[in-house]
Amino acid sequence: MDTNDLSRRKFIGKLGAGSAAMMAAYAIPSYSISAGGGIDKLAALGGTPVRKNVSWPKWPYIDEKMVEGIVKTTRSGIWSRIDDPDGTVGTFEKEYAKLFGASYCVATGSGTQALSTCVEALGIGPGDEVITSPYTDMGTVSAIITSRALPVLADLDADSYQFDAADVEQKITPNTKAIIPVYIGGVPCDMDAIMAIAKKHRLKVIEDSCQAHLASYNGKKLGTIGDLGCFSFQASKQIACGEGGAIIGNDQALMEQCYTVQNHGTSREGKHETIGAKYRMNEFEGSVLMGQLPGVKERFALRNENASYLNARLKDFPGLVPQKRYVGTESAGLYIYALTYHKEHFNNADRSKFLKAINAEGIGFGGYIEQGLHREPWVDHILGLRSYKEMYTAKRLKKYKEDMHLPQCDLACSRMVSLWASGTLLGSRRDIDHIIDAIMKVYDNRDKLNLL
Ligand SMILES: Cc1ncc(COP(=O)(O)O)c(C=O)c1O
Repeated sequence: MDTNDLSRRKFIGKLGAGSAAMMAAYAIPSYSISAGGGIDKLAALGGTPVRKNVSWPKWPYIDEKMVEGIVKTTRSGIWSRIDDPDGTVGTFEKEYAKLFGASYCVATGSGTQALSTCVEALGIGPGDEVITSPYTDMGTVSAIITSRALPVLADLDADSYQFDAADVEQKITPNTKAIIPVYIGGVPCDMDAIMAIAKKHRLKVIEDSCQAHLASYNGKKLGTIGDLGCFSFQASKQIACGEGGAIIGNDQALMEQCYTVQNHGTSREGKHETIGAKYRMNEFEGSVLMGQLPGVKERFALRNENASYLNARLKDFPGLVPQKRYVGTESAGLYIYALTYHKEHFNNADRSKFLKAINAEGIGFGGYIEQGLHREPWVDHILGLRSYKEMYTAKRLKKYKEDMHLPQCDLACSRMVSLWASGTLLGSRRDIDHIIDAIMKVYDNRDKLNLL
């Protein structure tokens, strides 16, 4: 027998001294062992899916009050934030800052715009380097290259999918000005280590909390640990308005600079002071966001409760290992719920086969980021630009390209499977049990995966 294999019965047997309730939760689902003593057929091979004609909680969150708010904004004729400092955007900024215990908030038109505003407000530009993760949305890198700074990508810890603090420190040069930690899945990075590195090398920290609404680490909400924290309210996010973003922070002068930058360089007093694109959030978006706030803490708590339940159910199952969390993690934003797929426990079936099988069971796992940003065409594009060739030596750009060797990121991309969690993790216990049931059904049928 393959010693890596762990039958579900053994997996259940290994659980040790759980409470009666826990043991009940681990009971073998009745569908799995059929009346004939066999194992139910995979839905991908013509069997009955674990989950059929049952919908997941809908996302984005919509209620009647929110719709009324949008109608009210429409009728008011106040559609731009500059028409009323206490309109929906101004009010949302105050409420959002309060939610995080931050002193200030500046709303923007997207998470990318929030990050871009921070880069510009901190005076980072041509010739400067910013260290970030290759395992992120292009918006993170976009915010650096639109200012013609150089995004330096640190390799990952392949089990947390977050950049590795040791590699971050190794990549610091005299030109490094800032670090942008990215909280992938809304789960904290190793922030104690990152903040210590930033302090030692006097670097600014812009937290990319675009997936991490309300998550906390060592008593602090993500977004309030570094100098500035950025959020996305894109339609799929846990607080959403279609396209939107926000910056939070406690340094009044820096936050005023952020306001000015996102207001095409124009201060609240109307002085045209600096460089900045027009990134203002409009009053309709502010209205939708105000409508998202009621119940936000409850939804956040439910996602965390369901993720903890899934993590506990999978605790001793080596085939799918939940995203590693660093010491200090208290809660997560859970934009996605992510796991590492270990094919050696699934009869060496490629991840694509597992995904095909589990999707046929009615559970929408995907691969998320297919390849790290170091493998995308923007790298060669910027290396060919006159502005980069003028600002960085040929030797520096050559080394930059050579350093785009990030094997742990490649490994993470090849093994990670994830569920979009904004709506899914708001499901009932039955919904969440379906996820485990489907995983175990695919596991029981692992010898059939290579037929797919
Ligand atoms: C980690 C991360 N950073 C940045 C962004 C960019 O945010 P937006 O899409 O609002 O511009 C996103 C959005 O998906 C994200 O997930």
